[in-house]
Amino acid sequence: MFSWVKAGLAALAIVTPAAVASDYTSAIDAIGRPATAEEVAAWDIDVRPDFQGLPPGSGSVEDGEALWLEKCAVCHGDFGDSNEVFSPLVLGNITPEDIESGRVAALTDPAVVRTTLMKVSTLSTIWDYINRAMPWNAPKSLSTDEVYALVAYLLNLGYIVDYDFVLSNDNIQDVQDMMPNRYGMTTEHGLWSVSGSPDVVGSNCVSDCDVDVTVTSFLPDYAMNAHGNLRDQVRDYGPFPGIQTAPETDQDQAGMPSASEAPEQLLMANGCTGCHQLEGQLVGPGFADIQGKYGPDKVEYLKGKIRNGGAGVWGSMAMPPMAAIDDAALQTIAEWLAVGN
Ligand code: HEC
Ligand code: HEC
Repeated sequence: MFSWVKAGLAALAIVTPAAVASDYTSAIDAIGRPATAEEVAAWDIDVRPDFQGLPPGSGSVEDGEALWLEKCAVCHGDFGDSNEVFSPLVLGNITPEDIESGRVAALTDPAVVRTTLMKVSTLSTIWDYINRAMPWNAPKSLSTDEVYALVAYLLNLGYIVDYDFVLSNDNIQDVQDMMPNRYGMTTEHGLWSVSGSPDVVGSNCVSDCDVDVTVTSFLPDYAMNAHGNLRDQVRDYGPFPGIQTAPETDQDQAGMPSASEAPEQLLMANGCTGCHQLEGQLVGPGFADIQGKYGPDKVEYLKGKIRNGGAGVWGSMAMPPMAAIDDAALQTIAEWLAVGN
């Protein structure tokens, strides 16, 4: 990997000014150093479906249960069944017939809650995920044997192994052969739309490729609001405010004007939403707070403040003059803000 990075930098150096280019070999050599074997090993922790990369060790269901209650139950529930912080990891719906066939029959029933253990086809994924990412608040804090024990406990909750089972690198393949949905993985269809075509169809094309722009994968309506209403959130990425994902009635209940009346497009188009959100302070006050402070007689005042900017009404941060906003947009926004409470 490091030799690749160096080659990339050398290629860049060729187009840099002559003074640098003449000495680029030593300049490049001064940047960074090869990773040590220990550093590479610290990153190289992935466990593959055939268990390549799995460190040797073992852990019992019983030890896993104690660890689970100490480190995992607070978020996932005592039996992995909580639907609060994340969807349930285990919640029944796995039968001896599924373990026999390698396909979880309940997955075909849209009314059944889908759990991690119902869906996952490779045990290595659970092992690897817990090892690298859990507990959520302290990832990579578990010892190898603790990960084995926790995986064993989850398997026991799913009736895949008995309570006296001890999971180890020696018998993990045997358990893989009992995973209830081990034949469930397919690349035949899209992620969300199981009647659509695959999201990605491999091809070696690198230029002038024939791309099918038909969207075959999308969030279904019931999943739109899974992370709360995007319109009300300040996020690290994506447009702000985001689209309305909550049912409109939630907004009505919050006392906000309905989306059809709210001049959100104008606020976005004029750059207001970089500093203001609908509710709650961002850089400037929330628009709902402004609406609560003034009344219908303040349209002209608000137009002046928006056009000319100002400071000291809501705090020490200044609002810059919004000179570019056109008169019609200014009028619409000021009237919308001057509703009073
Ligand atoms: C502070 C809350 C919290 C704690 C504690 C916690 N988890 Fe999680 N866990 C989560 C969240 C949130 C996710 C989903 C993360 C994501 O998708 O980015 C998750 C995901 C998982 C998954 C993957 C499920 C899937 O279908 O993708 C497993 C397995 C898991 N946790 C096991 C554990 C184990 C084992 C422990 C204890 C060592 C633990 N968790 C502790 C919050 C927690
Ligand atoms: C660079 C950040 C920024 C931008 C962009 C911005 N504002 Fe502000 N806005 C503020 C700050 C900060 C305040 C608080 C000023 C104060 O305390 O007097 C404020 C205050 C306001 C007020 C209340 C004024 C008062 O006297 O109570 C209104 C109305 C307002 N902004 C509307 C808008 C509109 C409409 C836009 C877009 C055309 C916009 N703002 C763009 C930062 C911004």
